[in-house]
Amino acid sequence: MLIDTHSHIYSEDFIHDRDEALQRAYDNGVKKIILPNIDSGSIKHMLDLTDAYPHLCYPLIGLHPTSVDEDYKEELEAIEYWLNKRKFFGIGEIGIDLYWDKKYINEQKDAFRHQIKLAKSHNLPIVIHVRNSFDETYQIVKEEQDGSLRGAFHCFTGTAEEAQKVVELGFYLGIGGVLTFKNSNLDEVISSVNIDKLVLETDAPYLSPEPKRGKRNESSYLVYVAQKLAEIYNISVTRVAEITTTNARGLFEI
Ligand code: NI
Repeated sequence: MLIDTHSHIYSEDFIHDRDEALQRAYDNGVKKIILPNIDSGSIKHMLDLTDAYPHLCYPLIGLHPTSVDEDYKEELEAIEYWLNKRKFFGIGEIGIDLYWDKKYINEQKDAFRHQIKLAKSHNLPIVIHVRNSFDETYQIVKEEQDGSLRGAFHCFTGTAEEAQKVVELGFYLGIGGVLTFKNSNLDEVISSVNIDKLVLETDAPYLSPEPKRGKRNESSYLVYVAQKLAEIYNISVTRVAEITTTNARGLFEI
């Protein structure tokens, strides 16, 4: 059994074959899928899917950094409204993204810190989005880490030194399709990390692993990531599944 800890399978990309994609995931051993939220516009789609598949889909609630703009306080109010209304398994995805635009960097930092505090007060893990922003993101998590904060750096693609910093914070590394890319160098970085610190993810519909690279990603492709990890650690795929599933179960309490 595998757990996909990051999949936007509620998105429009699956409008024509969502049920089939979920069935393929299940048939490939992906028995639980964590759904990270984006903003107020994605909540209904995500929760509708959760309600249709309550034993397969587990929602998070949060405001994605690329959805942070001058109206971010209203967006945060919507997040808090839902957080107090029903059960979520974590706060995500949250963080800092400086790839597209640095215009709202201060708003992004404020929204990130605010949502970390929500996670603490609700005793929930956080799922962190980092893009061209490791130092800024790490600094805030480090300041906020009082021993009670837990979570994952989703789609980790950093250096061995950054991986070490994440582990020292008590956080997991979310590992997806990039691991299978030639020249990503991520296999070398990951071989320096204990597998007890990893959770698997697809980030569907993005970042399909080899041999599906370039196509729409889906949760069933998580097996390719598990296979690559088995090669890197020289253990069986079954063992990779056991360890990473235990890690994900512990982190999200599912
Ligand atoms: Ni995502």
